[in-house]
Amino acid sequence: MYAMSRNFILIGVAAAAVATTLSAGCRGSASANAQSDEPPADPRCAPFETVSEHPMGLAGARQAHRRAALRRYLRLREAATPGHIRTLTAAIAPQHDIVAGRVCFAELYEAGRILFEHEFSFADGLGDDRARSGMEAGQSPFRRVHRGASGGPETISCTSCHWRGGPAGAGAVQDNSLLLGDGDRPDSADARNPPPLHGVGVVQALAREMTDDLAAIRRELIATARRTGRTVERTLASKGVGFGVLRADKNGSLDASAVEGVDADLIIRPFGWKGNVATLREFVADSLRVHFGITSERDRSAEFTRGQMTALIVYLAAQALPIHGPPDTEYNLEEAAEGLLPPPPIRFHEAWSRGRLIFDELGCASCHRPFLVLKDPRFTTVDDRGNSYTVDLSTRAEPPRISYDSAMGGYPVWLFSDLKRHDMGADNAARHVHDGVPRSAYMTRRLWGLAHSSPYFHDGRAPVVDVAIRAHGGDAEHVRLEFEALSHAQKNQLRVFLMSMRRAAQLSVP
Ligand code: HEC
Ligand code: HEC
Repeated sequence: MYAMSRNFILIGVAAAAVATTLSAGCRGSASANAQSDEPPADPRCAPFETVSEHPMGLAGARQAHRRAALRRYLRLREAATPGHIRTLTAAIAPQHDIVAGRVCFAELYEAGRILFEHEFSFADGLGDDRARSGMEAGQSPFRRVHRGASGGPETISCTSCHWRGGPAGAGAVQDNSLLLGDGDRPDSADARNPPPLHGVGVVQALAREMTDDLAAIRRELIATARRTGRTVERTLASKGVGFGVLRADKNGSLDASAVEGVDADLIIRPFGWKGNVATLREFVADSLRVHFGITSERDRSAEFTRGQMTALIVYLAAQALPIHGPPDTEYNLEEAAEGLLPPPPIRFHEAWSRGRLIFDELGCASCHRPFLVLKDPRFTTVDDRGNSYTVDLSTRAEPPRISYDSAMGGYPVWLFSDLKRHDMGADNAARHVHDGVPRSAYMTRRLWGLAHSSPYFHDGRAPVVDVAIRAHGGDAEHVRLEFEALSHAQKNQLRVFLMSMRRAAQLSVP
C-alpha cells in the first residue's frame, strides 16, 4: 500500500476519485508511453492514470478538474478540522519514506502542490508569539513591513504572492515584500517583487555544477602554489561565464580581491534578487519563516516537517519550463468556428528575428546568457540531517522540460542569465546589505517566462520591459545608453523578442 491511498482510506474519503486526483501523474504500466524521454513506470504508483503529457488536451482538462475538486474538498475539510492538511501532507510524505524511495513521485509532487496552495492558519503555526497573542485579543496577526530578518508575517499562502502567469508564478507590485525593515515604516525596508518560480530545480542544479567547477580550479591553484612555492593566479570560469581571478601565495593562502560576481567562498547563489541563497531548501525554509512565521527543520522546534519541505521543494523543482523561440500557435484548436480561432502569430516572425539580433548586438546576452548547459539532469535536496532525495528532471518534471542535446554534450537550459551578480549602479542601491551582498549588486535575473511576470525589476517598479531596461545602471550603463539610441522600430522588435519568452499554455480550473 502506498502512502497516499492509505491516508485517503484513513480519512474516509470516496477514496478512488480523490486518490486518483492526487496521483494523476503516476504512470501505470498499461499506459507506458513509447516516447523514449518519458519516465519509466513507477511501480509504487501502479494503478493510477497517466499524467497529462498533453497539458492542453483532454487528459490535461481532466487533471485540472480533478485538482479543482480536490482543492474544494480540502478547503471544507480544513474548515471542519483545522490542521487537516498539515496532518495529511505530513502523513503522505514522511521524510524517511521519501529518502528510502518509498513515496511515488507524483504523490510527492501533489502533496507539494497542496502545501504551496494551502492557506496557512494558526493550526499550522501561522505567526509568531506576538501575532498569536494579539490574535486572541482580536487583532490582526499581520505586519506589512518586515521587522529585520524575522519578517512579517504578512500573508497566508505561497500563492498569494506567486500567482501570476501560471502555477508557482510571479507577483504583482502590491505583493512586494518589504524586507529587513523596522516592522512599521515602508521606507525603512527594501521592496522586493515576487519572481516566478518555474525552473528553480534546473537553476539549483546548474549553480551546483558551477560551484563544483570553481572549487576544482581553487583546489588546483592551491596545490600548484604550494608545489612551486610561488604566488600563482587562475581565471575563474564555468560554463563560459567568467568570475574574475583568484590568487594563492606560496603557503596556499587565497586572495579573492579580484573575484567578481560571486562571494569569496566561490559558491554560486542563484536565488533571491541579490543572489544570496544557494539552495531551494534554504529559500523555502526562509519563506515559511518570514512570510508566515512557520518554523522548519533548522529552527529549534519545527512546525513544518522535513517531508513537507521535500514535497514543497519537489513541486517547485518539477514545474514545467518556459518556452522560447519565435511566436507560434501552442493550441490545437482547429475544431472551432473560424471566427473563434486566434489569429496566426506568423506576422511577428520577422520582428522576432530582428529583436533577437538586437538583443545580442546590444550586449544584453553578455549577462542574460541565452542558455547554460547542464551536465547532470538530476536535482537533489538535502535536509539538515544530510538525508537526500534526488529526482531526474529530464524525465520527471512537468513537460516541457530539459532534454539532452548531443551536439552540446548536455542539457541546454534556456534561462537568459549567467547566474552571476553585477553592479547595477548607485541608483539601484538597496537600503540594507542583504547577506553580505553589496548594496548595488544584483543577480542577473533570468528572463525566461518574461511575458507573464510583469511588473519587472527587483522592486517591481517597471510596469513594462522598457522601464526595466532603462533602470539598468553600473555594469549595464553602456547597454542602457545603446538601448536609448535604438530607433522606435528597433525597440518594438526587441520587445517582441522579449515577449516571446513565455510559459507553455496549460489548463487550470480555479
Ligand atoms: C509576501 C509575498 C511572498 C510569499 C507569501 C512567498 N513569497 Fe516567495 N518570494 C517573494 C519575494 C519578494 C521573493 C524575492 C525575494 C528576494 O529577492 O530576496 C521571493 C522569492 C522566492 C524564491 C526564490 C526565487 C528566485 O528565483 O530568486 C523561492 C524559491 C520562493 N520565493 C518560494 C516561496 C515559497 C515556497 C513560498 C511559500 C512557502 C513563498 N515563496 C511565499 C515573495 C513571497
Ligand atoms: C551587466 C549585466 C546586464 C546587462 C548587460 C543587461 N542586464 Fe538586464 N538585468 C541584469 C540584472 C543584474 C538584472 C536584475 C536587476 C534588478 O532587478 O535590480 C536585470 C534585469 C533585467 C530585466 C527585468 C527582469 C525581471 O524579471 O524583472 C529585464 C527585462 C532585462 N534585464 C533586460 C535586459 C535587456 C533587454 C538588456 C539589453 C538591452 C539587458 N537586460 C542587459 C543584468 C544585465
